[in-house]
Amino acid sequence: MRPQPDWLITDDVDYVEVDLGNLKTGKEAEVFVIERTYGDRSCLLAHKRYRPRAVSHRGELAGLGFQRANSFMNDHVYRDGRKFAKSRDQRAVDRMTNYGKELLTGRWTGHELEMMQRAWEAGVNVPYPVGPRGDGMLMQFVGDDQGAAPRLVQARLGRVELEQAFGQLVDNLRLLVGAGFVHADLSAYNLLWWREQVWLIDFPQAVDVTTSLHAFEFLHRDVVNVCTWFGRRGIEVNTDELYTELVGMACAF
Ligand SMILES: Nc1ncnc2c1ncn2[C@@H]1O[C@H](COP(=O)(O)OP(=O)(O)OP(=O)(O)O)[C@@H](O)[C@H]1O
Ligand SMILES: [Mg+2]
Repeated sequence: MRPQPDWLITDDVDYVEVDLGNLKTGKEAEVFVIERTYGDRSCLLAHKRYRPRAVSHRGELAGLGFQRANSFMNDHVYRDGRKFAKSRDQRAVDRMTNYGKELLTGRWTGHELEMMQRAWEAGVNVPYPVGPRGDGMLMQFVGDDQGAAPRLVQARLGRVELEQAFGQLVDNLRLLVGAGFVHADLSAYNLLWWREQVWLIDFPQAVDVTTSLHAFEFLHRDVVNVCTWFGRRGIEVNTDELYTELVGMACAF
């Protein structure tokens, strides 16, 4: 087991948490920054809150503190291979009734945490997943008290750093596929750059290579996305070679 990070103030002490406010409003979720303190120690955490999927009007969302409404974008594609145990539940999901949407919301939220825990255990550079929290999850905040780490698209890396970032990304992809899953929403928008390191974030769409019918399609899209981005910035990339290598690793499952 990969040890818990030593900077984390854990539940065995009586810490205090302060919500420092909203960091980002994304497509599916909002991210809030939390400062946890105990005595003279403190650590920063990110609370990712998923937008409820089963609300009927915007006012309800606003009441819950969310800023934008949400759709069930492509949910059916990511859902495959993850059927509900009870046939009544599966039928509700297939028909997209309100009850079915609630079921999906619950599973979606637990899914990202589980995927990030697996990635963390596999040694992938992801924010440490602390655990579930209300309508979302708590994880390590990548950044410091001056601000959050920039996304790769905003980080303005020079040539040497771009090469470094690409090399690290390839290593992380090997670890991820080696652990049996695919990110499925990988792009320079879901990569952070902090203290010379690439961090992978945003895992709710991640799929298992053994159960998802679309795993290879997603893997291909992930590889093409990031290779195109780095390629356009003058980094030597070999998309086909990388994809073939990763497929080989995935087929070992
Ligand atoms: N652990 C973290 N530390 C620092 N910043 C984070 C962290 N997690 C998320 N963020 C910031 O919040 C943004 C939204 O998070 P994320 O990508 O997980 O959610 P999303 O709903 O898919 O958003 P988007 O639609 O922007 O992709 C990220 O682009 C990043 O800037
Ligand atoms: Mg994102």
